[in-house]
Amino acid sequence: PASSLVDLHGRRVRYLRLSVTDRCNLRCLYCWGGGGMRFIPHDDILRYEEMARLVDVAVESGVEKVRLTGGEPLVRKNVLHLVELVRKKHPAIDLRITTNGTLLESHVAGLRDLGVSTVNVSLDTFRREVFHEVTGRDFLPQVMAGMEAVLAAGLSLKVNAVALRGVNDGELATFVDFARNHRVDVRFIEFMPMGCGTRWNDANFWPADDILARVHDLADLRPVVPDKGGRGPARLFDIVGGQGRFGVITPMSDHFCGDCNRLRVTSDGRLRTCLFADREYRLRPLLRHPKLGVEAVRRVIALANRRKPLGFRLLERMRPGLAVAERRMTAIGG
Ligand code: GTP
Ligand code: 5AD
Ligand code: SF4
Repeated sequence: PASSLVDLHGRRVRYLRLSVTDRCNLRCLYCWGGGGMRFIPHDDILRYEEMARLVDVAVESGVEKVRLTGGEPLVRKNVLHLVELVRKKHPAIDLRITTNGTLLESHVAGLRDLGVSTVNVSLDTFRREVFHEVTGRDFLPQVMAGMEAVLAAGLSLKVNAVALRGVNDGELATFVDFARNHRVDVRFIEFMPMGCGTRWNDANFWPADDILARVHDLADLRPVVPDKGGRGPARLFDIVGGQGRFGVITPMSDHFCGDCNRLRVTSDGRLRTCLFADREYRLRPLLRHPKLGVEAVRRVIALANRRKPLGFRLLERMRPGLAVAERRMTAIGG
């Protein structure tokens, strides 16, 4: 379409990651860093009607896939209402969610009924004590039940594990077995220096090359040929003789910014053209303005996207040791 979102590097946006809340019921070390909590004030959070209007604009601008993130999206009250508003307006859109899985089980039927195709669950360990250490909560059984419910309902499941040396590097075989025995994509994500409170630490960094070398010893892997929409952030492998797949997401060692197809909007309505962006564009005043309306929102998104940066350059400028963004991962939504 004439209004489609193409940037100065020739990349086209088709995918919106919308954070519906910055709140979360877990306190993951790499995400919260244990510091004092500052939540976005309630009145600053976009209402569902405002989020739905934002999605309308995005879809008109060429977005085909919308992912709800957080914080933890399922802690926001009645989040299925938002899914319903979006689905009613856009029957064909690819709607997905990224969740920590703790509140998933009771939401699966609702998500399925609203045509959510895929659920991504963040899970860094299968060991209950380690789960408690990393997240501050003892919710591993709930997450396992949530994943089982997703598979039982016939939805697609992806598991995201942040690769943390000294934390889950002893569990690779367990993750590989999980992928072998379930219809699931297991993806290890390189730890990124995100957010002011993050305990980013070089000693915890575990590069994808090393992960893959070790997985090759554990399983017979066949590379999955990416579809022509671009390979996306994950490099995936079929596990020969198994049901699922294993993959890595390599924001640090092998950046995929040249193929980037996504925009992010925070729960307080700020557009981030890149995960590592050093600026945000306030859409909330436009979405709330009685007269300006959606045309202004569309214009700001298009102009902002023109200048969408190559994230790895921002990343290199900020390293080493320093967290990139002021914003925590919980506010941006990963
Ligand atoms: P699929 O659409 O299912 O492939 O999911 P996704 O990988 O786009 O989304 P998900 O929410 O599962 O994200 C997985 C991990 O990849 C998270 O740690 C994200 O922060 C990271 N990630 C996702 N998109 C980007 C991106 O554009 N840049 C970088 N650097 N990391 C990203
Ligand atoms: N580095 C890499 N991944 C991260 N996530 C949160 N913080 C980080 C980080 N610093 C992951 C979550 C979730 C996804 C949305 O982002 O575990 O899987
Ligand atoms: Fe896109 Fe930025 Fe992620 Fe690169 S770092 S893939 S430009 S969002």
